[in-house]
Amino acid sequence: MDYSEIVYDHALNPRNVGFIEEHDGMGTCGDPDCGDFAVMTIRVCDNRLADVCFLVQGCGAAIATCSMATELVKGKTLEEADQLTDEDVVQALGGLPEFKLHCSILAATALHGAIADYRRRHLADLHDWKALYQPEH
Ligand code: FES
Repeated sequence: MDYSEIVYDHALNPRNVGFIEEHDGMGTCGDPDCGDFAVMTIRVCDNRLADVCFLVQGCGAAIATCSMATELVKGKTLEEADQLTDEDVVQALGGLPEFKLHCSILAATALHGAIADYRRRHLADLHDWKALYQPEH
């Protein structure tokens, strides 16, 4: 199977490449020291993904899937973004050759990790706030 025009477009002109220093959540997939690796950083505003950026070490399919994943979830609620699957990303790209399907897991896994990280931080903030205003007995 050849790559679709959409795959070529996203692999050669990836969207949302970068690392958000002031991120609200960060997720990774893979191991940067020994192979394929992706990191996603997100900014969250009013429960929506205001910004999503990625860095990836991998093949063109991995670049294209990370790029497409960021485009699909930007502006979505956290719940909607959490629903994104590898299959959704591959479908939006017009498919991938069978032997490249495993490359698509980097994007969704790193994204879901970033959302989980945001939730952990957010809950930690709420916990601190409650502790701060705990009435004395
Ligand atoms: S990311 Fe390793 S072959 Fe695609």
